[in-house]
Amino acid sequence: MKNIRHFLKETDFSKEEVDHIFSLADTLKKNRANPQIRSLNNQSWGLLFFKNSTRTRISFDVGVNELGGHGIYLDQKSLQISRGESVADTAKVVSRYLHGLVIRAFEHSLVEEFAAEGSIPVINALTDFLHPCQIYTDAFTLAENWKSGEVPCLEDLKGKKLVFMGDCDSNMANSWILGGCLFGMEVVMCGPKEFQPGEEIKKLVESSNLDGSYTFTTDVKSACCEADVIYTDVWVSMGDESEAAKRKELLSPYQVNLNAFKMAKGDALFMHCLPAHEGEEVSADVLALPNSIIFDQAENRLHVQKAIMAKLVE
Ligand code: CP
Ligand code: NVA
Repeated sequence: MKNIRHFLKETDFSKEEVDHIFSLADTLKKNRANPQIRSLNNQSWGLLFFKNSTRTRISFDVGVNELGGHGIYLDQKSLQISRGESVADTAKVVSRYLHGLVIRAFEHSLVEEFAAEGSIPVINALTDFLHPCQIYTDAFTLAENWKSGEVPCLEDLKGKKLVFMGDCDSNMANSWILGGCLFGMEVVMCGPKEFQPGEEIKKLVESSNLDGSYTFTTDVKSACCEADVIYTDVWVSMGDESEAAKRKELLSPYQVNLNAFKMAKGDALFMHCLPAHEGEEVSADVLALPNSIIFDQAENRLHVQKAIMAKLVE
């Protein structure tokens, strides 16, 4: 029987496979509805969301369709799972109809349980712990900017310094720690001690035997010095709303503004997964810089996720 593969965390693909994904994403970007690449022909993929989404939901729906398949948006509120049907039964049932499942959830264990109990590929479209589709896309976007050859690849990222500013105990922070270490980058996490990287991600990185490294600092100046890219994300993630006031107060020294950005290399790039809260984690002038590549990131979600789905069904 065919081994079913899932994409729940950055390290679910090897570096060689990430390069294949980048190469395919590059091909698909040049020709979105490439008639030679119909990896999901006649397939139906479910898009199950427990949280809001603009980019992820639309790019997956469009992506499934462009690969020849059919996307079905599943709002958890209208499924029996919201009335207590178990994850295990739901996973087994939807596996009888669907060929793949994209899930955005609160608990990371929920996507793991779907993958373990079902019999179709599962993609993590963001949990409280990780956002791997975003990080693969961001890495591809950086490789496009820095590429030395014809096709963007991981070699283009090797040794580059990425500074993540703000909430370093979030899904985006965790994903940059794990992804950056897999890609061979130097990742510097910068934020208040109250929001430093947690134990779970530390243990995962330690047990994953990766090339790159990460450090944590509370000092903006030393973090941003010589940075190749400065990245930030919202201070109040989905699910953290009750702590909004405390978060905004503790995180305010870590806004990415022109003062911080000027400490980086002259050609440094600014990135944000979006949605952004202008005037909170990032100033309006930084968002509008020519070196801000936020909308390229958003576009590339489509191309990279198509390549990820194609890889999973290979
Ligand atoms: N960056 C991202 O995942 O955006 P959405 O929440 O809009 O999907
Ligand atoms: N950290 C953010 C990312 C949104 C794409 C959140 O979880 O809300």
